[in-house]
This record gives sequence, C-alpha cells and structure tokens, in this order.
Amino acid sequence: MSELEPERLRPLLRGAFGEQYLYAVETDSTQDVLRDGDHPHGTVALAEHQTAGRGRSGRSWEDAPATNLLFSLLLESPADARIPQLSLVAGLAVASALEREAMVPALVKWPNDVLIDGGKVAGILLEATGSRVVCGIGINVNQVADDLPPTPRFPAISLRVAAGRRFDRAAVLVAVLAELEHRYEQWLEIGLAGLADDLERRNALRGRRVIVGGSHNGTADAIAADGRLTVVLDDGRTTLVGSGEVEIAGT
Ligand code: BTN
Repeated sequence: MSELEPERLRPLLRGAFGEQYLYAVETDSTQDVLRDGDHPHGTVALAEHQTAGRGRSGRSWEDAPATNLLFSLLLESPADARIPQLSLVAGLAVASALEREAMVPALVKWPNDVLIDGGKVAGILLEATGSRVVCGIGINVNQVADDLPPTPRFPAISLRVAAGRRFDRAAVLVAVLAELEHRYEQWLEIGLAGLADDLERRNALRGRRVIVGGSHNGTADAIAADGRLTVVLDDGRTTLVGSGEVEIAGT
C-alpha cells in the first residue's frame, strides 16, 4: 500500500488543505482532475503517475511512478490581478517545507521553481479560470540520479539525491500542504509584501545575468512587492519584468 493512499494520509494532515483528497494510481494530469467539477477550496488531487503531466510553456512533466509527488491544489481565490503572484507564494511554501524536511537550503527561482544545490527540485504550474486557480506542483522526492529527467535547460535534483536518504512522501506532502495553507492565508491578509523578506532571502536569481525582451542584457535583482522581478539593465536603467519577459542568460 502506498503511503499516499487516503487512509494513510488523512490522519497526518495538519490543516484544511487536503481534507478533500482525490488519489489516483494513474491519471493524465492532476490539473485536469480539478479543472472541472464542484470541488471545494483546498481540494488536493494527487497521482502516483501522470500519462500527460504538463509543465509551463507547453512542456511536459515526466515522472518516475510512485517515487515523487505530483499533485494539484484547488484555490478559490479573489479574482484579481494578483493571481500570478500565487506561483511565488507556492514556491516560497514549497521551498520552506522542503528545507525543513530535508535540512538542505532551498531557494525560489523566480517565478515558479524551487532549487536545491542549483538543481530544480520542484516546479509549479498555475492554471486559472476567473477566481478558480489550479496550482499544480511536482516535487522530485525519491528518484535516484538515473531516474531524473534529462533537462537540457536546467539540471534536475531530488530530495534523495540532495540529502542522501529516502523520504516518506506522505510526511513531505503534509509538510508542504501545511506551509501552503499558512502562506496562502498570509498572502490573502497582507499581500505579497508580507512575504517579501522571506522571498528575498530565497531569491535564487539575484545577481544572475538575464535577457529582457529578447535583447536587453542585465542583472536580476530583488523580487518586487508586486511579484515582478527587478532587473538592472547594462545601460543603467532599472526595470520590472513579468514572467514571460525575461530569460536567464545561457539557459
Ligand atoms: C514546471 O516546472 O514547468 C511546472 C511543473 C508542474 C508539474 C505538476 S505535477 C502535478 C501537476 N499536474 C501536471 O500535469 N502538472 C503539475
């Protein structure tokens, strides 16, 4: 029996996120499980394996069955322009929880990845329809190095590779859900500005060379209070960019 089956997971939950829990051994994408239907805020859909897992920008999200965490969380969020900030809220929550579980430093790579030792340990995909946001999270947990997908754009890492031991995936999931709930409540009450210091401490891009709008070179700086990235351009100007407008030089 998998440690992620509902009977095993439910007693461990620390908050409301995950109380509604849809578990599958296999599905196409957990994003689609929550996209339609009448699921309440905080519902989690999780699969041991996805046959059509997707990442950002039309990429696929490959997995090694039953060794990682693949889940989506339904958020009924106030429908306003701040919804894209949720990828940073989720990134901060995942980084904090993984760092605590694995006892290795975890950073947020603006706008939606979590890094350990410079490798991508988790990715976040937000899909919103009005106020209904499906926040998909893939975390590399127990893969050995050979199981990790080759990522030409960015190296991948798992908690197991980073910490040198296997993890109980239920414990990791419960820790991540509790942190997601805590950070989401903070964001609702005080906005991203309330998370700014914690985000900045985990800002993996600060100091990295970036290209803005395909042609302007610069250096990434702080994550701004509205969630955009500050970039100091080589011509001396400072600009704020959204997620589609910047790429890391050399990737
Ligand atoms: C990215 O880094 O591009 C985002 C990856 C998001 C992957 C997760 S796995 C669970 C959920 N279901 C999906 O199909 N994608 C997300």
